Amino acid sequence: MFSAIDMAPRDPILGITEAFNADQNPAKINLGVGVYYDDNGKVPLLSCVQKAEAILIAAPAPRTYLPIEGLAAYDKAVQELVFGADSAVIQEKRAVTVQAIGGTGALKIGADFLKRFAPDSQVYISDPSWENHRALFESAGFTVNNYAYYDAATHGVNFAGMLAGLKAMPRGSIVLLHACCHNPTGADLTSAQWDEVIAAVTNGGLVPFLDMAYQGFGAGIAEDGAVVRRFAAAGGPLLVSNSFSKSFSLYGERVGALSVVAATGEEAGRVMSQLKRVVRTNYSNPPVHGGKVVATVLTTPELRQLWEDELAGMRVRIKEMREAFVAKLKAKAPAHDFAFVRDQVGMFSYSGLSKAQVEKLREQSIYAVDTGRICVAALNSRNIDIVIDAIAKVL
Ligand code: LMR
Repeated sequence: MFSAIDMAPRDPILGITEAFNADQNPAKINLGVGVYYDDNGKVPLLSCVQKAEAILIAAPAPRTYLPIEGLAAYDKAVQELVFGADSAVIQEKRAVTVQAIGGTGALKIGADFLKRFAPDSQVYISDPSWENHRALFESAGFTVNNYAYYDAATHGVNFAGMLAGLKAMPRGSIVLLHACCHNPTGADLTSAQWDEVIAAVTNGGLVPFLDMAYQGFGAGIAEDGAVVRRFAAAGGPLLVSNSFSKSFSLYGERVGALSVVAATGEEAGRVMSQLKRVVRTNYSNPPVHGGKVVATVLTTPELRQLWEDELAGMRVRIKEMREAFVAKLKAKAPAHDFAFVRDQVGMFSYSGLSKAQVEKLREQSIYAVDTGRICVAALNSRNIDIVIDAIAKVL
């Protein structure tokens, strides 16, 4: 039965972790996957998470099924975080939220939902985008196109190209936008550019799907969420996937959510009923633990403050690594200008390294994505000199 099945290619991101795990060199460094490591090279277990877990353990609860849409306290806390507690879309009950299996799960629920109710629409993702965006929407049955985004010459956004692309899309097209900390490029839009994007999306009758997996890693929690709020205020339909994998360092708990904004409360109720069908036919209902931890932190003022401080600590350390990366590379390879790395936002740098250079780095047990994306959040004071030496060698 399976004799004709071809070998699938390795995943462009998680496949690198597989290769990294198989590498026997104790000095290996993984700059591939988007994971934040502390300065000791460890994935942190945040204090706010530990304190929330202590609260949960002190009041043991049976593990019954959650509702299909997830924990009510979690969904509410997510809405308030994503849209702002005073948001009109919450007050008018136009926003509905379902707990999801990480940000990827949220995208998948959204993709399946859209395919059911907008089967003829096509999807547009940035060029480039997170590798899984295309695969995920294609596997939901969509044709996936690119809109112009990255300008390799300036290491910034080709905004004129992006805007022209948005304006040329047929009405009803689904446009996937990165709310902050663009993955993989680290190149974000300015506030004024977002104004133009929101106008183009609204006037063009497009369906915006905002992916927010890195809230808090750019300028701050509220600052990074501002785009979502502006889209919500623009009045059209809106889908928002968000993830707590990175911001709570809860990767393996798979905690995310999909929020959909409808035109009226009544319409939102119908949307929710259909989202529940998608969830029910995929995995029935979400797991309990991660959602409870996040809800506890977000709704307990001291823990919430602790989380904000810990997230700020991660954000600041990444910025320090960007500064160090630029300064050290300037000293080692003065002919090459990497100053742009300082201006990039979030966990990643689209370093400009070619596939061949990335392969050469791999020979030195330093792992990056083939596109040249490196995870700056995996650099630390112990490994940065090794990485800089290796990059200088391959340049
Ligand atoms: C990444 O881009 O590395 C992360 O979002 C992890 C993943 O699932 O690809």
